[in-house]
Amino acid sequence: MGLRLKFNLVLLLVFALGLAVTGYVSRHLLQENAREEVLRTAGVMMEAALAMRSYTVSQVRPRLRPMDQEFFPQSVPAYAATEILGKLHEKYPNYAYKEAALNPTNPRDRAVGWESDIINDFRNNQTRVEFAGIRDTPTGPSLYLARPLQITDPNCLACHTTAESAPPSMVKLYGSNNGFGWKHNEIIGAQIVSVPMSVPIEKANSVFLSFMASLTAVFAVLFVILNIMLSMLIVRPIRTMSAAANKISVGELDIPELPESGKDEVAVLAKAFNRMRRSLEKAISLIDER
Ligand code: HEC
Repeated sequence: MGLRLKFNLVLLLVFALGLAVTGYVSRHLLQENAREEVLRTAGVMMEAALAMRSYTVSQVRPRLRPMDQEFFPQSVPAYAATEILGKLHEKYPNYAYKEAALNPTNPRDRAVGWESDIINDFRNNQTRVEFAGIRDTPTGPSLYLARPLQITDPNCLACHTTAESAPPSMVKLYGSNNGFGWKHNEIIGAQIVSVPMSVPIEKANSVFLSFMASLTAVFAVLFVILNIMLSMLIVRPIRTMSAAANKISVGELDIPELPESGKDEVAVLAKAFNRMRRSLEKAISLIDER
């Protein structure tokens, strides 16, 4: 195996190893970044929903009472947050907010399969305050952020215990079958924000690809430069020297001197070689004179 081949094999091995490790680490970091970015967006959406809820409680509800004649859903925080973020959903269909409940007052809030799982998870782990996960949807992976909806305020039960105790105007609008029987401290549902992951993941993938492509290009250029240097500084001088040594070994002493330019190890070797050849010439001529 030639020197160049050995050198290139080691170089390729190091490059391949470097690419694999860098690729693995950078891909992991980029994916993690994408997830964090989406999680931040989901957190902001969740806070926006809470802001809408508290605005409704402090500024809308006091003005929409009394409700004996007519019930205004606009005074209900859950309704306000769902309606407002529903408008956002119309414009950005993959972004969604839902106040999912197992036994909802408004049927549109009924929890579907995966949402029920989240709610039951909160019911089984009462200390859990937030929960995030990723699920596959037809439009790509979607991140959800969920917080439990727990009845901590006894005032909630005025409308959510029985149809008889709830305001009649409300029962007229929503019926007497759903949204009742909630208990104090019970986790009756969950606020669930969904944010699409496909765009940040695509972005992370394209950043990853261009990063790896530029790294490969740098390696390729490095490979070529190192090969040229190897050829110029080591392989070619050594070949010349071994050809000269070959000729001398068969008695051909009338070959030109080797170039001695430079101060590196190869030049030192060439100088030593030339010196040795001159000594050999002298020794042979001494023998010939006798
Ligand atoms: C004045 C009656 C009333 C009170 C008091 C009330 N709610 Fe409701 N709640 C409703 C109505 C009506 C809806 C359905 C709104 C809609 O159409 O989206 C609702 C909906 C909800 C929902 C969405 C799920 C569903 O049932 O459709 C949650 C969660 C909720 N309420 C929690 C609470 C909590 C927590 C409190 C106490 C802080 C509370 N509610 C107090 C009337 C009330």
